[in-house]
Amino acid sequence: MEYTGAILSDDVFNKLKELIYELSGLYFGEQKKYLLETRLSKRLSVLNLSNFDDYYNYLKYSPEKTSEAKELLNSVTTNETSFFRDMPQLEVFVDILKQVVQSAGKNAYKKIRIWSAACSTGEEPYTVGILIKENFPSSDINFEIIGSDISTQVLDSANKGIYGSYTLRNASAEILKKYFVKMDDDLYGINDEIKKITSFRNVNLIDAKEVKKLNEFDVVLCRNVIIYFDAESKKKSITNIYESLKKGGYLFLGHSESLHSVTSLFKLVGFGKTPLYKKE
Ligand SMILES: C[S@@+](CC[C@H](N)C(=O)[O-])C[C@H]1O[C@@H](n2cnc3c(N)ncnc32)[C@H](O)[C@@H]1O
Repeated sequence: MEYTGAILSDDVFNKLKELIYELSGLYFGEQKKYLLETRLSKRLSVLNLSNFDDYYNYLKYSPEKTSEAKELLNSVTTNETSFFRDMPQLEVFVDILKQVVQSAGKNAYKKIRIWSAACSTGEEPYTVGILIKENFPSSDINFEIIGSDISTQVLDSANKGIYGSYTLRNASAEILKKYFVKMDDDLYGINDEIKKITSFRNVNLIDAKEVKKLNEFDVVLCRNVIIYFDAESKKKSITNIYESLKKGGYLFLGHSESLHSVTSLFKLVGFGKTPLYKKE
């Protein structure tokens, strides 16, 4: 991280945090002031600005404000993820998928749509692709996986599909061999078989109009994002996801997240460490 020496005052912090909230639903409490200062000092360097006041004005009033808003979100989002993250939960996901496949068997179209909402750099949707190929190797079902995120930067990486060994730490040697192409420098590219069924979109989960463009999902994974939202943004994003699911579709949240006191739209059908919700 580049050091500009600029200090984020309480006043500008409050203005920036409100702007970020309006744009993304992400809530930055007082304790995150230093984090914001560190993450945004790089933008000051890139734009050759000497203080955060000027940066806020640039975001609000410059002709580049729309593209800078994207850069702002690229800078402030937390994008931590990895392949096969939370395997016990993914085992439940596979069980649910087996049920969905069984009922799709009676359906002439045989198409199953899965959405990894807030997918970061793509590990989650590609993990879903691998799990599909492992569990339904000769299925004639047309599986479609959509990954989405508010950050354009992570989506660029997701589209490239090239990963280092750290994010692949939970992948076995067999999985690496089957679904990745080994490149130089300890890098692995996801293979075409998985890429072919996965596509990516830039979607803001709190924006009903944007989310509406995605619909008819059988399963949605929305893991480890609503923890960064306040109550109102949680409600907005989950309501939007609800609208995008098919009747009878399922929603997975991260293991530390829950819809308790967020909405009663869904029926809770999974307990313990795997909160699982159904649209009835
Ligand atoms: C910690 S990552 C979670 C990645 C993945 N789902 C997982 O569990 O490994 C959270 C992601 O949420 C995205 N995000 C934050 N606010 C969002 C919003 N309003 N709409 C869509 N994505 C958002 C961030 O850009 C980030 O990539």
